[in-house]
Amino acid sequence: MEHKKLKPFPEDFLWGSASAAYQVEGAWDTDGKKASVWDNFVRIPGKTFKGTNGDVAVDHYNRYKEDVRLMAEQGLRAYRFSVAWSRVIPHGNGEVNEAGLAFYDHLINELIHYGIEPVLTLYHWDIPQGIQDEYGGWESRKIIKDFTDYAELLFKRYGDRVKYWVTLNEQNVFITHGYQLEYHPPGISDTKRMYEANHIANLANASAIAKFRELGIDGKIGPSFAYGPNYSIDANPKNVLAALDSEELNSYFWMDVYTFGEYPIAALNWLKENDLAPTIEPGDTELLKKGKPDFMGVNYYRTMTNAFNPLDGVGFGKMNTTGKKGTSEESGTPGISKHVNNPYLEKTDWDWDIDPTGLRIGLRRITSRYRLPVMITENGLGAYDSLTDDLEIHDDYRIEYIREHLYAIQEAITDGVEMLGYCTWSFTDLLSWLNGYQKRYGFVYVDRDETDEKELARYKKDSYFWYKNTIEENGANIAAEKQK
Ligand code: BG6
Repeated sequence: MEHKKLKPFPEDFLWGSASAAYQVEGAWDTDGKKASVWDNFVRIPGKTFKGTNGDVAVDHYNRYKEDVRLMAEQGLRAYRFSVAWSRVIPHGNGEVNEAGLAFYDHLINELIHYGIEPVLTLYHWDIPQGIQDEYGGWESRKIIKDFTDYAELLFKRYGDRVKYWVTLNEQNVFITHGYQLEYHPPGISDTKRMYEANHIANLANASAIAKFRELGIDGKIGPSFAYGPNYSIDANPKNVLAALDSEELNSYFWMDVYTFGEYPIAALNWLKENDLAPTIEPGDTELLKKGKPDFMGVNYYRTMTNAFNPLDGVGFGKMNTTGKKGTSEESGTPGISKHVNNPYLEKTDWDWDIDPTGLRIGLRRITSRYRLPVMITENGLGAYDSLTDDLEIHDDYRIEYIREHLYAIQEAITDGVEMLGYCTWSFTDLLSWLNGYQKRYGFVYVDRDETDEKELARYKKDSYFWYKNTIEENGANIAAEKQK
């Protein structure tokens, strides 16, 4: 629908930005921290772009004060970050590391000092190697208790200051990439094990939320889901059905469990038919139903366009992790759908479709199906940036990307979607798990590359100033700039 006039952004809208521990902190073995699975995975030859790792990353562990000062100068209202589990409970269970807890105390206090709302993610993919080795991490039900104990520790320690909590970041990504596609640790390719591990992660997620309620923490909690709404390539009913199947298996499969405590019917039946369904034990559904979130956290980057894919059709193809446009391979799930080129959309250098309207569509679908408020916990453009001789970065392409997505959000607000806030990915440049340091997302340029850490100096990009102004105007500039 086209509106005559758009509603303004809410006065208390959280204009934010985000990061994740492994991608920014560095200090991977400092002050009692032990290895996470990523600290080891990156050392396996060929796993990451040019063998990059997060040993130093952008040194946020040592420079957090400088980074928070930059956030404050920009007027940021929220900062989403994650806690490295292996920094606070180095083995994953058992002994607690006070130095690790103290680091996040300082970070949170610094944010609050400048009036920036901390949005704390409990888990952004870096499970401690200790519990991976002890019992296989997400493949064992033992993790439900360990994750809940870890969450409880953080709720009690920071619950007086942190009001927004994210449980699992992109469960759909770390589970599929870790247990089916081999891109993430533990680097397994076994679809049955993937669905079992995923079910256990669902239980851990629900258990942490149930603990949050039991403790009566004053705040809001929800997962961050990587939502790529599915389209059909055309009006051929076979393709429309493929898009529906893909939406059910790749999106509702997670969001339904978060909200209703149950898997979508057709998807679960299909898994049963293929001997892939997870083991649902007595009591599981009751626990899942206790995990209803206060909001749906959404990480939005792209939509997926689908066509029918027969049972003997195409399987998984390689992703583009080099930044050479046009190098990603066709990919699909036989019997479900395959992802095809959408001729209406531009792509990034990493072949991700750029689709602001897709964000509005996704927000509408969430609102209709789940009736939950939404927080955009990630959205941004991974691109090559260059530093000029005058130490400036003219990233007008990023400004345009963010403006278009914010406009889509404003349209969605006008449609009736309840939005809590918007966190760009990312505040500073950081390590992209598989794509090294050349795929940049930040408002703040960090001067390092794959082979040379240099001085890790920070420079404000043009987008930094644009977002500063957007925050000052509470987004009133968005529609005005669109009309120009
Ligand atoms: C999300 C993750 O998948 O997308 C982030 O939560 C990640 O950690 C971001 O960095 C962008 O992905 P990529 O592969 O471009 O780094």
